[in-house]
Amino acid sequence: MKTLEDLFEHQIKDLYSAEDQLVKALPKMAQKAKTEKLKNAIEKHLEQTKEHRNRIEKICDELDIKPQGEKCLAMKGLLEEAEHFMKDDMDDDVLDAGIIAEAQRIEHYEISAYGTATRFAKELGHGDIASTLHSTLTEEYEADESLTEIAESRVNEKAKSNAD
Ligand SMILES: [Fe+2]
Ligand SMILES: [Fe+2]
Repeated sequence: MKTLEDLFEHQIKDLYSAEDQLVKALPKMAQKAKTEKLKNAIEKHLEQTKEHRNRIEKICDELDIKPQGEKCLAMKGLLEEAEHFMKDDMDDDVLDAGIIAEAQRIEHYEISAYGTATRFAKELGHGDIASTLHSTLTEEYEADESLTEIAESRVNEKAKSNAD
């Protein structure tokens, strides 16, 4: 790896691997989630994640590189942690709280990666690619926010049921 272009291409392939792993893992997280709200949010983000993967494929086409060939070890680790956590026996509410925590770690990782990739694309003069990456970045932020909202409503529901 010599140039910023090389580094950028490496990161794009890494993102492809991250999104691809996520497409495979999110159905399991949705299935484990106890509340409809959380299930729906994860399923919605699964559809977005498939689109994120498509976008990376298109970017690779434009850059004339293959999307495959890298394994995102960070995403692999995050997903292993999530899977490990979901195996434990626990109360429904604790399970949902934990799934939200794992999902937000994943979103924050993606936000960081897409933020950097967008900047690199701009710096390298790939204007269209930068705007595609930025669209995905925006959706990652929205997914993170919706998880925060679900986490907060979870706490409110719990306070309400404790008061009853
Ligand atoms: Fe994504
Ligand atoms: Fe995401």
